[in-house]
Amino acid sequence: MIKTRAIIAAVIAITACAWAQAQEYPVDKASGLIMAPGWEIVNYQCNACHTSLLIPQNPGDKEVWQATIQWMIDTQGLWDLSDTWEPVLSYLSTYYDEKEMDMSKFRRQPLSSEQQPALPESK
Ligand code: HEC
Repeated sequence: MIKTRAIIAAVIAITACAWAQAQEYPVDKASGLIMAPGWEIVNYQCNACHTSLLIPQNPGDKEVWQATIQWMIDTQGLWDLSDTWEPVLSYLSTYYDEKEMDMSKFRRQPLSSEQQPALPESK
């Protein structure tokens, strides 16, 4: 019982923290990115081929972001992020986690990768 309460309290605290963090920073008008620590590295690298507006449309945790970026490296000519991997992943998974999605802007959660059609190169 105490354990359950502690878990609930922790979940509430983490959610409140993430919410407070996400609310704290202004949004850059040009890129649409939350101007939290690390946003510049993402802005420099993630606007080169496409608009960074793709970022809020594809939220995910660290693993999901790593897979998305690795896919661009393997198939779309994205450079190796080398020492910016960690700050980029930590920024994206903190501010563009699925749980943080602003449902006033989106009609529904994005489809999971199993529900999406195969990418052309995997055929
Ligand atoms: C070298 C070019 C290039 C760079 C730089 C690049 N991307 Fe992409 N990215 C692509 C291409 C090409 C697509 C596919 C675009 C499309 O489907 O219209 C894509 C798609 C995406 C998608 C959508 C994935 C999906 O499942 O539909 C996201 C999210 C994304 N990029 C995030 C990023 C982030 C974050 C960065 C910075 C680390 C980045 N991109 C930098 C080439 C790039």
